[in-house]
Amino acid sequence: MAESMKGLKRTHRCTEVSSKNVGETVTVMGWVQKSRNKGGIIFVDLRDRSGILQVIFEEANVGAEGFAKAEKLRSEFVAAITGTVSKREGAVNENLATGDIEIIAKDIRILSESETPPFPIEENSKTKEELRLKYRYLDLRRPDLQSNLIMRSRVATLTRAFLADEGFIEIETPTLCKSTPEGARDYLVPSRVHPGSFYALPQSPQIYKQLLMCSGYDRYFQVARCYRDEDLRADRQPEFTQIDMELSFVDVDDVIDVNERLLAKLFKEIIGVDVALPIQRMTYREAMERFGSDKPDLRFGMELQDITDIVKDCEFGVFKGAVDAGGSVRGINAKGQGAMPRKKIDALVDFVKGYGAKGLAYIALGEDGTVKSSFAKFMKDEEMDAIIKAMEGEAGDLLLFAADKTKLVYDVLGALRLEIAENLGLLDKNEYKFVWITEFPLLEWNEDLNRYQAMHHPFTMPMEEDLPYIDTDPGKVRAKAYDIVLNGTELGGGSVRIHQNDVQEKMFEALGFSKETAYNQFGFLLNAFKYGVPPHAGLAYGLDRLIMLMAKEDSIRDVIAFPKVKDASCLMSEAPNVVDPKQLEELGVAVALETAMP
Ligand code: AMO
Ligand code: AMP
Repeated sequence: MAESMKGLKRTHRCTEVSSKNVGETVTVMGWVQKSRNKGGIIFVDLRDRSGILQVIFEEANVGAEGFAKAEKLRSEFVAAITGTVSKREGAVNENLATGDIEIIAKDIRILSESETPPFPIEENSKTKEELRLKYRYLDLRRPDLQSNLIMRSRVATLTRAFLADEGFIEIETPTLCKSTPEGARDYLVPSRVHPGSFYALPQSPQIYKQLLMCSGYDRYFQVARCYRDEDLRADRQPEFTQIDMELSFVDVDDVIDVNERLLAKLFKEIIGVDVALPIQRMTYREAMERFGSDKPDLRFGMELQDITDIVKDCEFGVFKGAVDAGGSVRGINAKGQGAMPRKKIDALVDFVKGYGAKGLAYIALGEDGTVKSSFAKFMKDEEMDAIIKAMEGEAGDLLLFAADKTKLVYDVLGALRLEIAENLGLLDKNEYKFVWITEFPLLEWNEDLNRYQAMHHPFTMPMEEDLPYIDTDPGKVRAKAYDIVLNGTELGGGSVRIHQNDVQEKMFEALGFSKETAYNQFGFLLNAFKYGVPPHAGLAYGLDRLIMLMAKEDSIRDVIAFPKVKDASCLMSEAPNVVDPKQLEELGVAVALETAMP
């Protein structure tokens, strides 16, 4: 039977009790981690969010009734225990913060009983994630998840304090918005009052924060919930949190400066890591050429080399064909992997095929000077020598090549570089390599839509020197956009915004929007810009990704209290779910899919 708290007050959390308290009477409350009955003596590990404390029950101290209660304790029972702090008599437990003391119980109340939990509550759980997510409220009792969420809270608190000090004002923006279908797919919410009309949940507070600049707030920030209906991955959730900011009367360097200081503060105070400032900057073009990615992981080398010029006239159809079609041939050097067994190379070939490559050509340089290659027979000796030289190939190296359209070659080698680094254990989670990626293309061609699309969003400012090309060669225009990348993850991104109507109109033209469409979608922003708009710029971090990297987790789910899984459902609450037909009727919504009905 569950007892009440009447007349009881907790004096300490479990690990707030220390050898300094020896001799004192304390009251602790928490969950039973473990209980061992050794006959006349019962050892109980009591757990709360601070950690674990050992309690000892003996009839002489706790009385017959108390001892009987202690005998009933099972895992995850909730108990309040009053007792005397004493130096540990048995072996000191080095693994516990409270390992040199124990509580000699004088009184106990069982506040709540527990069924046997479906999995043990322990650090580094081996339990399958599906089961843990179904019982997320139990999973969240585990110390690793608790420390992640506590870290998350500290990051949010520190960020708020830092930004407030820097003159930022925290302002909430709506989450029932107008749909502006540019970017990811929207989550829609039907309106009851306006049947047939829908709100969209915000993909980010972008337009609102720009309006706030128009309204003179000068510096805004928000810890903002965002929603994107896109395919999920380990670092993506349908709802996630941004640390979002916008600043007036600034240019790229001002945004970068305040954010570098924010990052340095967070990394120092939360995990004791020194971030050397200024953080390195790299243009998009350089990042693609050297790493095949706009979010390069700089913890290791293995950079891409361009061998197009060397092979443009060779006899190997795969290479020559790619060059003739306007593509390129590039390679990476997996240092010291020349003896990689055929099977493993084949696995890499399969891996790149997943990225759309037609194949992967290789040269394996044996320690003994032998050369094995999938294409040597088509090449002249001088060509082979020139390739090996360009790749800085040495005895014992494995050289891997992709030939195709350049964009695909980048994708393939960028991914392959990471895959090999992962396989070789080159990715050290204790190392933090930051880089700003700058000068992104303003637009990218969308094959499906057969038009240009904003790479960032339609309000991003082109670089002044590229403005003349916006009519003639839009693909060439670079943007005043920047991403902050950490260890191959895009932590955040932002840009300077367009604040001139004529530039904005040109941008919409380049995107193939008529004036009418532009006004239909973004009219309130365009109108606002008619009444005096300061030059402004901003940035948003993915808070979840930031914590994932700080906590050295592989999955964003481990830093979110109640995350969703790959199909965007919640295994615990079973959202999304069908609703009462009456609710649908009220909303004037009919469901077309038969299978969606109960
Ligand atoms: P962007 O779309 O780059 O920019 O988003 C900013 C950051 O948000 C994080 N992020 C995500 N995190 C988890 N799950 C997702 N599905 C997800 N999508 C994005 C990333 C990303 O870098 N309004 C602009 C910012 C600006 O220009 O100021 C924006 O939203 O870490
Ligand atoms: P094939 O002529 O298709 O038998 O290919 C000969 C070799 O070239 C094999 O090792 C293929 O894996 C490799 N290969 C095929 N297509 C490409 C490509 N686009 N880029 C790099 N290597 C390729």
